[in-house]
Amino acid sequence: MINKTDNLNNNNNQNVPNHIAIIMDGNGRWANQRNIPRSLGHRAGVEALKNIVKKSADIGIKYLTLFAFSTENWNRPEKEVSALMKLLKEFLKKESIRLHKNGVKITVIGDITLFSDELINQITKVEEMTKMNKKLTLSIALNYGGRNEITRAVKKIIENNYKVEDIDEHIINQNLDTKGIPDPDLLIRTSGEYRLSNFLLWQCAYTEFWFTDILWPDFTPMDLENAIKGYQNRERRFGSVK
Ligand code: FPP
Repeated sequence: MINKTDNLNNNNNQNVPNHIAIIMDGNGRWANQRNIPRSLGHRAGVEALKNIVKKSADIGIKYLTLFAFSTENWNRPEKEVSALMKLLKEFLKKESIRLHKNGVKITVIGDITLFSDELINQITKVEEMTKMNKKLTLSIALNYGGRNEITRAVKKIIENNYKVEDIDEHIINQNLDTKGIPDPDLLIRTSGEYRLSNFLLWQCAYTEFWFTDILWPDFTPMDLENAIKGYQNRERRFGSVK
C-alpha cells in the first residue's frame, strides 16, 4: 500500500521540490484570536516549524529556507523582539542537537552583525557543528531583507575589486548570503497575505508561489503536502514556450 508520504517522496521521482522557502506569517493573529500574548503565537509558530522541518526531511526536500526575522521586524515593540530572540536562542540550543543527529545542516542568512555576541556565537557553533550534514539544509533568515542582502553583495563585489566585464549573475549569486543554495522551487506564505515582503528577491525570479489563509501555527505537514501537490500541477516554463 502506498501512503501519502510515499506519494510525495523524492526517491519515487514525484517531482518533489528541491528547495522550499516559507514566509511563516500569522502568529500574531493566531494569538489575538485566543486573547493570549503575541509571544505565545510565536511559540506556537516554533512548534509548527519543527513539524514542517521533520516532514520536509522525510519526503526528501533538500533545502528549506524559513523567514524568521526580517530587517523590518526591529520596528516591533521591544517586548516582542526580545521574545523572538529568546525563542531563537531556545531553538538553537534545544533543537540543533536533534536536527544534527538527523542529518540537518543549519545555516543562517541575513546580517547577523546586529545580534548579541551570545547569539552570534551560538549561531556560529551550530553552523560549524552541522556543516557536513547532507540530508536537508535548513536556512534560517535572521535580520534578513532581500534589498539589504543585494546591497551587501554589491559592497562585497566592489571590495573584492572585480573587473566590470567579469560581473555576471554567477558572481552576484556567489556574493549573496544564499551562496551555494539553489533558488527556491516553491515559496509558501501563510495567513492570507499575498506579498513577498522583501524575502529572497533575487532568488525567487522563477519560483512558484503558494498562498494559503491558514495561520502559521495551524500549518501542518498535511498542508505542506497540499502545497507540494499544487506545485506538482504547475507547468514551469522559465520564460520559454512548451
Ligand atoms: C509572522 O507573524 C512571523 C514572524 C515575524 C516571526 C516568525 C518566527 C517564528 C515562527 C519563531 C521564531 C523562529 C525560529 C527559527 C525559532 P506575525 O507576527 O507577523 O503575525 P501577524 O501578521 O498575524 O501579526
